[in-house]
Amino acid sequence: MRTVDLIRKKRDGLELSAEELAFLIQGYTAGDIPDYQMAAWAMAVYFRGMTPRETAQLTLEMAKSGEQIDLSPISGIKVDKHSSGGVGDTGSLVIVPLVAAAGAPVAKMSGRGLGHTGGTIDKLESIPGFQTERTREQFIEQVNRVGAAVIGQTGDITPADKKLYSLRDVTSTVDSIPLIASSIMSKKLAAGADAIVLDVKVGGGAFMKTLDDAIALAETMVSIGVETGRETVAVLTGMEEPLGSSIGNALEVREAIEVLQGKGSPRLLEVSLTLGSHMLVLAGVAADLTEARKMLQQIIADGSGLRKLKDMIAAQEGNPAVVDDLSLLPGAERIVPVRAAASGYVAAVEAEEIGVAAMLLGAGRATKESVIDLGVGVKLFKGIGDRVEQGDILAELYINGGGDELENQVADKVAGAFSISPEKVDHPALIYAVVSRKGTEMLVPRQDEERL
Ligand code: URA
Ligand code: CA
Repeated sequence: MRTVDLIRKKRDGLELSAEELAFLIQGYTAGDIPDYQMAAWAMAVYFRGMTPRETAQLTLEMAKSGEQIDLSPISGIKVDKHSSGGVGDTGSLVIVPLVAAAGAPVAKMSGRGLGHTGGTIDKLESIPGFQTERTREQFIEQVNRVGAAVIGQTGDITPADKKLYSLRDVTSTVDSIPLIASSIMSKKLAAGADAIVLDVKVGGGAFMKTLDDAIALAETMVSIGVETGRETVAVLTGMEEPLGSSIGNALEVREAIEVLQGKGSPRLLEVSLTLGSHMLVLAGVAADLTEARKMLQQIIADGSGLRKLKDMIAAQEGNPAVVDDLSLLPGAERIVPVRAAASGYVAAVEAEEIGVAAMLLGAGRATKESVIDLGVGVKLFKGIGDRVEQGDILAELYINGGGDELENQVADKVAGAFSISPEKVDHPALIYAVVSRKGTEMLVPRQDEERL
């Protein structure tokens, strides 16, 4: 087999066989196929796409390129959850303890934040003492004992994806639906999940800016799940504005605790209940979504979700007292309000701008090497559709160090992310669609896309 022939085949719009994809991925991972040939193939995929069978084969091959976690020593159906990344997306911190408290084991690997989006591992590390590095044995023992563990991704999972993703990044081939879908799903397959719930974000703050693209990505990922024998459900959720009202690591942990206390952001609660319900159904813990939602609501009401979070924190050497005393979390020296310049209705809160503002304060990484400050970030007090009067506080900046220059720059950015309209504005939809093996169920009319 010659790489040049496989590039030509894809360039001409033909389907590569499983053996041909194995040759490409194994050769590239081993360093036998050079970057320039892989880049040409990726560009051919960008223009020609891949068939569902081809996409599933690519995913399996990438999943096999490194370590594959064996979760079989954990009894029960292990359901993983993945979010395509957003701003103020604290979902995992709420969902993991809720689902575990309902009796579904959660063995989760998470990543760190980059750019305007946050990462669950960084957020967890704002809990004093919390350890995210665990051996395989510790990880599995903890899930069996406590019901939940969240650890960092290790170096040897899907090396093929790591290499290919970096190459795509510098060859303008990231935004190809089969390549994104196979990249995400290969990591989930290697992490050992029996079933997967995907939160595909849609809107200005998301990877997928339009509903059509998000549906296409979701359908491709569900099809990979079906083809590879892992039941997969994708929920399309809005990222027109940040999901929760806190952006920044300790601030998001605080908000997750508040949601588990039955307070906190209603939008974050709703997305958590929706995704968590699908996880319980896939885990076989609830018969249907209605029963699952009731279970999760009960778990919030009786405090068992909060207790599960405490147990998980203690098991990972963190201080569980943070759950009862939020002042134990890292904080900020100064809290600076950002006020509305006019009265009216909030028409936009640009998620990406808010994410960048939090990053500039030190909550996120401009590059992989950046050092972050766990205590800083942005807290939002108004969302799309809310009425505001001139001078109302729209947001607060949590700042450590920096001078007036940083403070003014970030305050301007946050103020600029808000648009205030004199006319009444509706609250945007939160859950757009659910994609499963049964098909795509739209929860908003498809023409609503105009608004995205
Ligand atoms: N996230 C991933 O993990 N891979 C992609 O290709 C895009 C987003
Ligand atoms: Ca603006």
